[in-house]
Amino acid sequence: MSATDVIRITHLGKDYDTDAGPVTVLRGISFSIHEGEFVAIMGPSGSGKSTLMNILGCLDTPTSGEYVLNGHSVSELDHDQLANLRNRVIGFVFQGFNLLQRATLTENVALPLVYRGVARHERNAKAESLLGKVGLASHVRSYPNKISGGQQQRVAIARSLVGDPRLILADEPTGNLDTHTSQEIMDFFTRLNREDGITVVVVTHEHDIAAYAQRLIRLVDGKIAYDGPAAAGLHEHAEVSS
Ligand SMILES: Nc1ncnc2c1ncn2[C@@H]1O[C@H](COP(=O)(O)OP(=O)(O)O)[C@@H](O)[C@H]1O
Ligand SMILES: [Mg+2]
Repeated sequence: MSATDVIRITHLGKDYDTDAGPVTVLRGISFSIHEGEFVAIMGPSGSGKSTLMNILGCLDTPTSGEYVLNGHSVSELDHDQLANLRNRVIGFVFQGFNLLQRATLTENVALPLVYRGVARHERNAKAESLLGKVGLASHVRSYPNKISGGQQQRVAIARSLVGDPRLILADEPTGNLDTHTSQEIMDFFTRLNREDGITVVVVTHEHDIAAYAQRLIRLVDGKIAYDGPAAAGLHEHAEVSS
């Protein structure tokens, strides 16, 4: 593997046990993502995108295959080592924002630092600086239900950045947002990628959103149907589906 691979998965498989028996969701997926890449993952509903993202985010474990995150084989780490690696390397952004409604925006963004034992004034200073970076400097003492969906997603992005991650994993981050707001969010990810060198992996089912990425990975029935330049992959699919 290259020293600059942030993610390397090899023959990754995932089965779920259900009442009707085991269901295979990922069928032997392999790819590497280098430091600094901007990758879109597309695929029909139920193709395994969220399952894959949850494994990449160390929120779930594969049934077979290997996952190497930032040079560490994830299955060889104990619970604390894995939590530590995840907190150091990954920022996760969800479709539903996942903010604490009773906490201020500053408290929401600072929360991951509580678990790291960072002092309150230091946490809050970092959180307020990141809220400034996402354009919410004047809302730091506001609450999630007082701001728009797009603003809430920006808070969630600020929270994902509070631990200085090298990698942002975003599962349909614009799924609940209108087109204009979605573009603002994607412009922000683009800046993080270009200016700060953060590796970005975004799941989406919208062509316009995937077009922000350099590389496209398309999942169909738990297998990779395309992995290559986003422009060519989106063009090819547009022709197939028209
Ligand atoms: N915890 C689970 N238990 C059983 N089946 C699941 C579970 N999570 C997801 N699935 C199934 O796995 C398949 C892929 O789901 P998912 O990864 O959420 O797809 P996508 O994000 O591409 O829509 C679906 O058929 C879904 O019903
Ligand atoms: Mg999903």
